[in-house]
Amino acid sequence: MSNTVVLGGTNSKELAKKVARKINAEYGKLHTDKFPDGETYLKLPFPVQGKKAIIVEGMHPNPNEALIETIFAARTARELGAKDVVLVAPYLAYLRQDKRFHPLECWSNRIMAALLHFADRIIVVDPHIQRIPNLQSIFKIPAKQITANKLIAEYIQKNIPDPVILGPDEESYQWAEEIAETIRIEATVLRKKRYTSRHVVIKLKRDLSLKNKNVVIVDDIISSGHTMIEVIKQAKKQKAKTITCIAVHGIFAENALSKLKKAGATRIITTNTVVNTTSKIDVSPVIAEELREE
Ligand code: R5P
Repeated sequence: MSNTVVLGGTNSKELAKKVARKINAEYGKLHTDKFPDGETYLKLPFPVQGKKAIIVEGMHPNPNEALIETIFAARTARELGAKDVVLVAPYLAYLRQDKRFHPLECWSNRIMAALLHFADRIIVVDPHIQRIPNLQSIFKIPAKQITANKLIAEYIQKNIPDPVILGPDEESYQWAEEIAETIRIEATVLRKKRYTSRHVVIKLKRDLSLKNKNVVIVDDIISSGHTMIEVIKQAKKQKAKTITCIAVHGIFAENALSKLKKAGATRIITTNTVVNTTSKIDVSPVIAEELREE
């Protein structure tokens, strides 16, 4: 892929470098700075004329900054003659505001998608798909969703003996069931009722026994951590042997990581779509695989 360059954004430098190495592309970091008034300055690391430019930028932390960086980079690469501009969003922000929950609210996911149309296409790792049929339904450019599920399944197989896989809510079946299937066990998806962003109630099924089991709770995102904490409480009540929380994207808002540890999680594991101390699963292999297939 010698005619291909990978440009790493502020949040995803290391991941972008790994992807570049895997697809034998030249790597460069997007140079960003702040003007004195707080506006974003951006410069490409080298010319991209006639090249395929792959921009890798996860949208956490600082989602608004990351979004601007991605838009500026895509448009600049296009203006400077890149023959193809591909966005890779290891974590794509604003997907959870996927409807107008209350009158007069901004329906953010579609607006965010429209802002990325300077690129030719976008690849997203495990987008949060809840009330939309798929990622493509909000994008006008081709949008491909890829998943870290097989990498998470491999991690569980290597590190957790006889796991019991739990998905905390109906949406988590996309992750929990596929991961469990790869390990050739069954997943149990629980029922969750969310009252506010900080108040959720989760019910365990009556016939589910977790006593002395290695419980693995799998979800796409840990944000406030309340979803995981509710399941941890139930697993502790049932005297589970160990409790591992695994998510693709570790947002850990409002000190969620220490809250999860305090609640009794034995281990907390995430991928490197968002960089954290918990990022033990590297998603560069699935991104590179997708880019090689294009
Ligand atoms: C919701 O449908 C998602 O799959 C996650 O369960 C949710 O976003 C986690 O949020 P929190 O950590 O704030 O409970």
